Amino acid sequence: MPSGKFTDPEYLRTRQYADDRNLQARIALHRRFSTNAYGWFQWYLDQVSLPPAARILEVGCGPAALWQDVLPRLPGDWRITLSDLSLGMVRAARGNLSAHSSQFIFTVNNAQTLPFPGGHFDAVFANHMLYHVPDLAAALREIRRVLKAGGTLYAATNGERHMEAINIFGRAFAEAVGVRLDDGFSNRNLRFSLENGAKHLRPYFTHIERRDYPDALEVTEAEPLAAYLLSTTSAVARLDSRRRPRVEAALLAFAREYIAARGGSLHVAKSTGLFIAR
Ligand SMILES: C[S@@+](CC[C@H](N)C(=O)[O-])C[C@H]1O[C@@H](n2cnc3c(N)ncnc32)[C@H](O)[C@@H]1O
Repeated sequence: MPSGKFTDPEYLRTRQYADDRNLQARIALHRRFSTNAYGWFQWYLDQVSLPPAARILEVGCGPAALWQDVLPRLPGDWRITLSDLSLGMVRAARGNLSAHSSQFIFTVNNAQTLPFPGGHFDAVFANHMLYHVPDLAAALREIRRVLKAGGTLYAATNGERHMEAINIFGRAFAEAVGVRLDDGFSNRNLRFSLENGAKHLRPYFTHIERRDYPDALEVTEAEPLAAYLLSTTSAVARLDSRRRPRVEAALLAFAREYIAARGGSLHVAKSTGLFIAR
């Protein structure tokens, strides 16, 4: 089960997502070692179908990696509001899109209470974030409220088996160094997953479709694998500064041996995709 930290807004806002470094470490692993060369963000935009001059709200935007990736393809008349619980993330998003500021508005807010009038947006994007929200029903109610009649929610999330090989790697390491583990890097029992997402969406949307993005990782380098583990909400990543340097050195050596023992490449199956709900 994901640790309590995974849905603790104070921890998420002030530690895990205080700035974009943890998330960028995870994005870097995907960018470097994904087997599907098309790319998640490009695929994501392919799924989006909106009217001209669409008004879009993204909740939990992080550092705006989606928009950076798809900028050359973006219709110039879309008006996009990017919001996140974390001020550090909103600052990173604004910095990353500063050259395109006329198309974007940035706000700090919790997806559970949206400061927008009802029926305002053609689409809400909620990507890899609904599993963090403690009151999921409140967030979905708010998203439904701010959507126009016939508006669309695009909600990306992971399946319960997503990147299980990293979970197994993390557990093996924690055991080797004697760290007592919660499950901060497992996707098992996610609050909002590919498996249970439709059930959560059904009270608010009549048309719900799930689309999966086929992908995997072939990880051939120890450093990004170690950095990934240290970026998670797991107990390994939250060690105090006294223990951390020793554990970090041990992790790198462990990751090298782990990859070598698998013929030089750790295969990591992914399970990720998107709900389109109207
Ligand atoms: C895994 S990141 C995903 C970022 C981005 N959507 C992406 O796909 O690259 C989750 C983001 O959701 C934000 N978040 C977590 N709980 C939230 C909440 N209750 N309301 C708004 N944002 C939240 C975090 O601060 C973080 O930036």
